[in-house]
Amino acid sequence: MIDEAAAYARFLAACRGFWAGPMFRALQRQVATDAATQRIDSSVDQEAFHALVARHPTHAMFGWMERHLQHLKYSGRWGLVPMVNSQRDALLAGSAPDDAILTLDSALQPPAYWLEHDIHQHPGGLSGALAGFVYKAATDQGGVVGRPELHDLFARAALDGRAPRRILDLGCGFGRSTVAFAAAAPNASVVGADLSESCLRLAAAQAPAALRGRLHYRQMDAAAESTAAEASYDLVTSTMLLHELPAAALEAVIAQTGRWLRPGGVSVHLDFLPPADPLLRILYDGHSLRNNEPFMRDLANADLADAHRRAGFDGVEIVPFAEAEGALDMPAARWRLPWTMIVATKRTSQPELS
Ligand SMILES: C[S@@+](CC[C@H](N)C(=O)[O-])C[C@H]1O[C@@H](n2cnc3c(N)ncnc32)[C@H](O)[C@@H]1O
Repeated sequence: MIDEAAAYARFLAACRGFWAGPMFRALQRQVATDAATQRIDSSVDQEAFHALVARHPTHAMFGWMERHLQHLKYSGRWGLVPMVNSQRDALLAGSAPDDAILTLDSALQPPAYWLEHDIHQHPGGLSGALAGFVYKAATDQGGVVGRPELHDLFARAALDGRAPRRILDLGCGFGRSTVAFAAAAPNASVVGADLSESCLRLAAAQAPAALRGRLHYRQMDAAAESTAAEASYDLVTSTMLLHELPAAALEAVIAQTGRWLRPGGVSVHLDFLPPADPLLRILYDGHSLRNNEPFMRDLANADLADAHRRAGFDGVEIVPFAEAEGALDMPAARWRLPWTMIVATKRTSQPELS
């Protein structure tokens, strides 16, 4: 018997492969040819270049595919939300009600931005009881974000030879990034923090036995004043959190991170900063709209160096991150989100007053 749900997922993955590969390359080629014919220099005449791309039929098709393939992934007869809902009782029975490595906060008031936006076009976002399962199912379908190697690669790059004893992983989701840090830093205890009870329950339930003794999951708002011990972490990290925060929350997370870190401690965030290439920048802004990630543009417009200095850091280093071999080559062979590491060191002494 054909597993129709699996066939549907394979069909969507094949469509996405076409969209991110051949269709993206065709768009690059056609836009370059048209810009040359019309004598538009994309780095000088930005308005004319934007107008050219905006009315380009391949760009319209590219945007349509991005929006609707993502919609089909979650919704409709074989979408992830109905598929996960159909297994509701079995899934909830299997997720740990009480767990020594899980601290939930029943009094937590999640911020409005988190409740109101269907981030990634995931209906209801991450607040529902089954949301963690839907999120996990979405990543299990493949793509860069679904590969555990991504998290291992980032953990090694973020550690950069350091051997922290205490790590805080903000916006940990269902624990992939947290587990990767625990595995890469064998002397560290690692706390994963998130707003989503469903994600945290799943993270605790599937914590690898060999790492459980060094893992803890905590429900908290990373942008709120918190009871988490001040100046006690050697490393604060996040993976794909910052672009999900509106400007005020982004500022608050950086400020809090400055409080959680000990002097000389390091913060390393993995996220998406806008690419310099004009066409890629248009696609980055388009992704923000089409994938329901409105705050991506808040991150793009943020003055990260200034926010970090005000939070007690020595400034910030922006490091492009290659999630796969050749990922940073230009011209890009495939459409990708511009992975970037945002690295900052907490000052060891107060700056002198002038
Ligand atoms: C894209 S997911 C990344 C999850 C995980 N780091 C990973 O790479 O699989 C972003 C996570 O940030 C969480 N988040 C958003 N705002 C938050 C906040 N203010 N405090 C804590 N977590 C937050 C979301 O609930 C979500 O689980």
